[in-house]
Amino acid sequence: MKSRLFSGVQPTGNLHIGNYLGALKNFVRLQSSYESIFCIVDLHAITIYQEPVQLRAKNREIAGLFLAAGIDPKLSSIIVQSQVAAHAELAWMLTCVTPIGWLYRMTQFKAKSETIREKSDTQDSIGDGLLQYPVLMAADILLYQAKVVPVGDDQAQHRELTRDIAQRFTSLYGETFVMPETSLPSVGARIMGLDEPDKKMSKSATGAGHAVALLDEPSLIKKKIMRATTDSNPAVDFDTMGPGVANLLAIYQAFDECSDDTMRERFAGMRYGDLKKTVAEKTIEHIEPFQKRYREMMADPAYLDGILKAGAERVQPIAAATVQLVKERMGLYTASR
Ligand code: TRP
Repeated sequence: MKSRLFSGVQPTGNLHIGNYLGALKNFVRLQSSYESIFCIVDLHAITIYQEPVQLRAKNREIAGLFLAAGIDPKLSSIIVQSQVAAHAELAWMLTCVTPIGWLYRMTQFKAKSETIREKSDTQDSIGDGLLQYPVLMAADILLYQAKVVPVGDDQAQHRELTRDIAQRFTSLYGETFVMPETSLPSVGARIMGLDEPDKKMSKSATGAGHAVALLDEPSLIKKKIMRATTDSNPAVDFDTMGPGVANLLAIYQAFDECSDDTMRERFAGMRYGDLKKTVAEKTIEHIEPFQKRYREMMADPAYLDGILKAGAERVQPIAAATVQLVKERMGLYTASR
């Protein structure tokens, strides 16, 4: 029996090469070793206001990007969170065992509520959902009794909290959940912002030259990479290079999958203009066929809907069994047998 793997991606912002090299590529690599569920977490997305038409389109876009990246719907289930009602159902039950102080302590909650407060935009308020966000994430994971939860380091605290919530549930109601593991089976590349190489590349950053989106035109990809921040050296020096140059090299290496030795041979002494051109070419070489697959996927809406429906149907029994068990443990109503 394979262990179960669960991960989620929010249908917000534009997925970029950092998401591809850090997460998607990793998902593809892991999918044959685990029984994998990849979830498009639209219920998480609405913790911050989303324009409905856009959100609906984003759900499909992410599904298309998953498929284009090589997630194989025969091996893995791709689902949209709101398709499976049990996510929200279990989240409520877990909310009731989660001390509110744990949630106020979450770094992401603090950061997001701070941003909203600063913007004081009328459409955005610090909704209760923002506080409950990690509980819903715990529900995603525990619902499927997932053992392996690949996430970036920004989500590691939420994964830890999931364990705490599970433990607390156990102490109140008895053994119920598989405990998710803390460590990753393998870690994808950590790609930094092109304009700020000391910050992880982000979907929500606003700088025009910050990220290369997976759906950017090749000419734009080139332009963004050519403008990437480097340092005051004229050419690649592996011993003294700054984070910008290291990041460009990391992008190249993650696409090419070559060894450190090969990297040194290819790039030592290369002038930055040539380095950028080479990295841009490598990126486009990988992204162009990816975009072609994406467009093929999106040209057939019925195919995409079919994949999502099949995914939901496959995971539904697992979700239902967990909810049933949790209800029994908690004394909630279940028909007498
Ligand atoms: N919060 C995660 C993120 O923003 C997405 C997510 C939701 C998730 N539920 C999950 C990731 C469960 C892993 C497991 O990246």
